[in-house]
Amino acid sequence: MSDDQVPDFNIRKSLSMVFATPLVVHDWPNSESHNAELQHLVLGKAADDAKNDITRSNAGGWQSAGNLSTRKEPCIETLRQRIEKLVTKLLQELIRDEGRDRSFRLLIDSWANVSRRGDYNVVHTHPNCMWSGVYYVTPGKPDPDVPYGGLLELLDPREAHNYIQIANTVMDARNFYENKPGRMLLWPSWVKHMVHPYVGEGVRISIAFNVNVVEDGR
Ligand SMILES: [Fe+2]
Repeated sequence: MSDDQVPDFNIRKSLSMVFATPLVVHDWPNSESHNAELQHLVLGKAADDAKNDITRSNAGGWQSAGNLSTRKEPCIETLRQRIEKLVTKLLQELIRDEGRDRSFRLLIDSWANVSRRGDYNVVHTHPNCMWSGVYYVTPGKPDPDVPYGGLLELLDPREAHNYIQIANTVMDARNFYENKPGRMLLWPSWVKHMVHPYVGEGVRISIAFNVNVVEDGR
């Protein structure tokens, strides 16, 4: 068969990613003082609430009640605005072209997580919302010799992900994310995820959040 019978072509014109799973990883710049304020607030709250630990996905560690976004401290307000901006920009990007003038109201819930040596979060999802995510305040000082220590892992929702026979493609099944200070991640709430055991000195602090989306005029 000659080349004329099997002509070359640009596959990008024929390719689409169906069943997409959006993930945003955004590093907010100039977050040092913001993170210091959040750390002070969260550790103070953890000390006050030491007898009122809440267990959700955490195995060990401390999680605050889920009403952090209602507090009035400037660092919480900044965090709320960052979440709003990230979700709004993602929605604008996901909406098909003809709908870009649509507007939405976001209902945000958030809570703090404090992990010390040996603490982790079991595999879980965040039911009854659309988007979930996390903001990293401090990674602590994880032991570099411990694999995956304190890392977030998102789990491939496809049952047959082990059918993929070659590594390093956009279809990779295992995805790990470092908890860099100032980093915010956002994903659909149905994505299963976990945090590997934190092994190191000091504390690992993150703020998790859920977002419900209400479309204006509907
Ligand atoms: Fe979670």
